[in-house]
Amino acid sequence: MTSLLELRDATKVYSGGLFKRRATVALENNYISVSGEHPTILAIAGESGSGKTTMGMLMLGFIEPSSGQVLYKGQDLWQLPKPVWKEFRREVQAIFQDPFEVYNPFYKVDHVLTVPIRKFRLANTREQEHDLIEQALTSVGLRPDETLGRYPHQLSGGQRQRITVARALLLDPKVIIADEPVSMIDASLRATVLKSLRSLRDDVGISILYITHDLATAYHISDEIVVLYQGGVAEAGSVEAVIQEPKHPYTQLLVASIPWPDPKRRWGQDAVLTQGDVFHLETQGCKFAPRCARAMDICRQSRPPLFQTEPSRAVTCYLYQDSPVLEPSEIGRVLGQNGRRAEQAQGATPAPGVPQVGLPG
Ligand SMILES: Nc1ncnc2c1ncn2[C@@H]1O[C@H](COP(=O)(O)OP(=O)(O)OP(=O)(O)O)[C@@H](O)[C@H]1O
Ligand SMILES: [Mg+2]
Repeated sequence: MTSLLELRDATKVYSGGLFKRRATVALENNYISVSGEHPTILAIAGESGSGKTTMGMLMLGFIEPSSGQVLYKGQDLWQLPKPVWKEFRREVQAIFQDPFEVYNPFYKVDHVLTVPIRKFRLANTREQEHDLIEQALTSVGLRPDETLGRYPHQLSGGQRQRITVARALLLDPKVIIADEPVSMIDASLRATVLKSLRSLRDDVGISILYITHDLATAYHISDEIVVLYQGGVAEAGSVEAVIQEPKHPYTQLLVASIPWPDPKRRWGQDAVLTQGDVFHLETQGCKFAPRCARAMDICRQSRPPLFQTEPSRAVTCYLYQDSPVLEPSEIGRVLGQNGRRAEQAQGATPAPGVPQVGLPG
């Protein structure tokens, strides 16, 4: 079955700027696929600089891979005939970190919604256009009479964020790539926006690539997770398995740095995460070895492959070298099978130590 959107052996190298002698490998030989048939929320997590945004931008066709491919319905994104490119532009939508950036302060918010309607000829009359806008706003919990006719600065951050979701919905997309969609808004609104992402999966059948450095929200809304470290996959699999019982020493550090609800336990007591050195292509061995407390000789000598430790998990770490090796292109074996988390979650207990972000519903 062809996936809707796929990275196939994709590498992105940014050339060094004026003051940087070496190029940055932001993403290295990545394989990720998003199915159009089984709506899933796939979290892409990792600390700052791990390549998350680069992955999203590649999948949106905003930047070209340095090598490898981005495929839309099996076709190379960069070779698409114009009509298919237009279909791609409609089916794959983005929601960004700071929605304020995408607004022109001199246009009322109506403009944000009418542009795609006209560009994609979604309505034949002004009336139809107005109806579509009202429906889209209502579907994200905004009242059209309180929203339309206003300028971006007259709305709250959460309202602006929901307008970008409404805008994406107008186009009836199959996939939404959401890069840190809630990092700019406060905790109470965060829950509302996250809930609307979840209902996009459940009620509208949209797959979401949820890009975040925040494992707690990833845990709450995602089905599956890929943890990136310096442009490579450290660990991938069902979000339950990876966050409840992280196997890669890097994922263990990340999970340990989630703020704990236990007042006796101070945040960051276990591990202090610091930004790793920027990785360069010539580096040998495991990229995480210089920071890893459990590094062995082999870790400094050769790059670990993906080891499939369980049916729905793979870890790029020699600690698990007794498990079968999974080719990078086979990563879909541990992803694509985690189903809708809602189905599994019946009666599941929350992970110890994973804080509740207060998601309603
Ligand atoms: N346009 C660019 N030119 C040069 N280097 C870049 C560019 N964009 C990103 N990088 C570098 O590529 C690496 C990955 O960046 P990316 O933005 O994908 O990380 P990220 O995981 O999204 O981080 P954050 O959590 O801070 O958003 C970083 O080292 C970054 O400095
Ligand atoms: Mg980013």
